[in-house]
Amino acid sequence: LAKVEVEMSAIPEGKNLIVKWRGKPVFIRHRTADEIDEANKVDVKSLRDPQADDDRVKRPEWLVMLGVCTHLGCVPIGEAGDYGGWFCPCHGSHYDISGRIRKGPAPLNLEIPAYDFSEDEKIIVG
Ligand code: FES
Repeated sequence: LAKVEVEMSAIPEGKNLIVKWRGKPVFIRHRTADEIDEANKVDVKSLRDPQADDDRVKRPEWLVMLGVCTHLGCVPIGEAGDYGGWFCPCHGSHYDISGRIRKGPAPLNLEIPAYDFSEDEKIIVG
C-alpha cells in the first residue's frame, strides 16, 4: 500500500502503536505531557544528529517515525533503553522520546515519514 490511514483515537496516551507502511514498521506514540517536556528540555547542540523535537512532530502529542534503526536496520523496541524511548537490541542503540539517537552506534535519528492529519483523529502515512 502506498498510503496507510491510522485511527489515532485507538491509541491511549502513553502508548505505542506499530503499523506497516511499504513493508516497514511505523512507530506512533501518543506522548504524555511529561514526555513532551522531556523531549524539549534536551540541549539540541549536544545531540549527535541535532534536531529540535518541534522539527520532528506536527503535533507534540503525536510522534510518528519509521521503526528502522539507522545503524543497520533492525527494529528497535519501544519503552526501552536509557533515554525513555526506544532501544535497538542488535547493537545497542538508544533513542529518546523524540526518536533521536542518544547512545550506541546508530548515526542518525529515527526517520520521520511523510504523513498528514486527515481529520482530527486520523493520519495518512505516505
Ligand atoms: Fe540497531 Fe545496529 S541495527 S544498533
